[in-house]
Amino acid sequence: MELIKNLEWRYAVKKYSDELVSEDKIDQIIKAINLSASSCGIQPYRLFVITNPEVRKRLAEASFNVQIMDSSHLLVFAGFNEITNDYITDYIEMMEQQRSLEAGALNILKDTLIGYFSTQTPEQNAIWSSKQAYIGLGTALIAAAELKVDATPMEGFDPKLFDDVLGLSEKGLHASVIISLGYRDSANDFLSSMPKVRLPINEFSTKIT
Ligand SMILES: Cc1cc2nc3c(=O)[nH]c(=O)nc-3n(C[C@H](O)[C@H](O)[C@H](O)COP(=O)(O)O)c2cc1C
Repeated sequence: MELIKNLEWRYAVKKYSDELVSEDKIDQIIKAINLSASSCGIQPYRLFVITNPEVRKRLAEASFNVQIMDSSHLLVFAGFNEITNDYITDYIEMMEQQRSLEAGALNILKDTLIGYFSTQTPEQNAIWSSKQAYIGLGTALIAAAELKVDATPMEGFDPKLFDDVLGLSEKGLHASVIISLGYRDSANDFLSSMPKVRLPINEFSTKIT
């Protein structure tokens, strides 16, 4: 499988070159992320694709991750703060339209989701949304590797700062996880020539037959 070779090729880049990733490749990565699975299928996070240098400079403050500023693109995965009845209603309506169903055909699903999410605290819903965002992060890593675009997933950032700079709270969102995209500066990245470290497969996985 070509994918395995691409996953062996990728690593979490520490130092990027100045080369920019084409918008076509960025759009393919965004499309792949949008195709990610999510629990209940309601995509409870949004993606911000940031190139603006001023914005990135502010986001990079207080982080040891220079990749926030020094890479081609920065992607921010922002989870929902709550799962509202209105959001579920609109999403189910879109589902009915995209599947050419009659209006109301998915009312049982809608009521089930509204009932379930109303039993959860806002904190539980926010944590759940972030978990879904991480699935998107995984897709982004794989899609980037397929395109031979380098990437660094990052939790080393100040979520509060990101929320403030990007105005996420007003949008009912919070920064969950981020990823930089670009091209490795092999000569100046100490990790570029290091072997990948992983557990032996039989220690990592157990087949129960
Ligand atoms: C959710 C997540 C958060 C991470 N946060 C950071 C980070 O803040 N800074 C960083 O340089 N690398 C970060 N990494 C990269 C990991 O250190 C890296 O994936 C791990 O060491 C495995 O190495 P590899 O990805 O190069 O194969 C993160 C990875 C993941 C999946």
